[in-house]
Amino acid sequence: MGYDFVVSGRIWSKGNFLDGEIAVKDGIIQEVKPHINFIHKIDFGNKVILPAGIDMHVHFREPGMTYKETIESGSISAIYGGLSTYVDMPNNVPPTSSIDAIQDKLSIMEKHSYADYGVYAFIGGKGVVKKLSVYVDAFKIYLAPSTGNIVLNNPEDLKEISIELADSKKFCVVHAEDSASFGPFKEHTLEGYSAYRSCQSEKVAIEKILSLYSDSFHIAHVSCPSNADLLKGKSFEVTPHHLLLNYNMPLGTFGKVNPPLRSEHDRDLLMEKFVNNEIPILASDHAPHSLEDKDVPFDKAPSGIPGVETTYPLFVNLAKKSKVPLEVLINALCINPARKFGINGGLIEKSKEASFAVFDLHQAKTIKGKHLHGKSEWSPFEGFEAIFPTDVFIRGIHVIKNGFVNANHSGKRISKI
Ligand code: DOR
Ligand code: ZN
Repeated sequence: MGYDFVVSGRIWSKGNFLDGEIAVKDGIIQEVKPHINFIHKIDFGNKVILPAGIDMHVHFREPGMTYKETIESGSISAIYGGLSTYVDMPNNVPPTSSIDAIQDKLSIMEKHSYADYGVYAFIGGKGVVKKLSVYVDAFKIYLAPSTGNIVLNNPEDLKEISIELADSKKFCVVHAEDSASFGPFKEHTLEGYSAYRSCQSEKVAIEKILSLYSDSFHIAHVSCPSNADLLKGKSFEVTPHHLLLNYNMPLGTFGKVNPPLRSEHDRDLLMEKFVNNEIPILASDHAPHSLEDKDVPFDKAPSGIPGVETTYPLFVNLAKKSKVPLEVLINALCINPARKFGINGGLIEKSKEASFAVFDLHQAKTIKGKHLHGKSEWSPFEGFEAIFPTDVFIRGIHVIKNGFVNANHSGKRISKI
């Protein structure tokens, strides 16, 4: 058979490990079998081969704030983290909310992205979905201010927007915090910030969306376990920071994020739900800010923390330690996001895209922000253990080879099934 190449290793396929081989041709998996007859093989021995991750929530800051991150730096960071694909949020300068702005961003991505990509446009009011739906992969609504200050002008429009979304067949990610429910911002600490932008304000916003009885919404970065309960059976995501960090950690402004980090008790309960496969999607909400931008008094510091490179490695390490079932992780970072966007990936099976990441489970490392490849050069997970991939393939292209970048801007817009 005329394959381009065959890889061997411990392959995660159909919910189990198979000591076997994957044959690839034209970027597509042709066979997954214990043995394939072929001369040109890449043998990964005992290493595990997992589907590459798909991060449906990143802020790569280009255009507009390229000193914080660019499409190039963010996407290089993504592939070092075992991801094949990211979907970029619209709170740029200018915001991604016009045909021109979308096309500008897509042309930067086409030239500079190392990973496959999709784009969101932001909805500021009625009529936007109709106008922009053919140009974007999905939409974003902010119900409360965050970086970029692009809040939905009139929340009364939500009903009409949900009808426009249903017609367009595109979905909309919601930043679900209700600013009218914010408390006083008394204490300028992470705990004070959590009291200010509380679980209650997240709940009010989620209930607003649930009252629309629409399947067109996806709730971003749910931070409180009680609110995850409200969303049973719905589309929503959690972040690594809400699963692994709490407001008592000595992070100061470097832990300031919207929605805020919560108590250790809430973090633990949210993690329990994740482990029990009650949370459909894991997304980094990679929101980089420079060290200088963050190193200011608490109330002046921008919100947001980086995570695109550390998400998969942190959780592969937790899976290795049997703290998170590998199946749950693959559902949340590969299979479910692929389904959400109609991407022909997320699984290592015949006729899927040949996008996978290779991990040596005996090579755990300590995260050091300055060794990561994004521009922010710090990580809230400094000192945490993680297993980074040694090799990554995107559609058959060997983009990370033995720990180093081995491709050049080969990212493509997400390919639909
Ligand atoms: O903390 C946050 N930072 N939350 C958001 O919703 C936006 C993000 C950013 O872009 O910095
Ligand atoms: Zn975000």
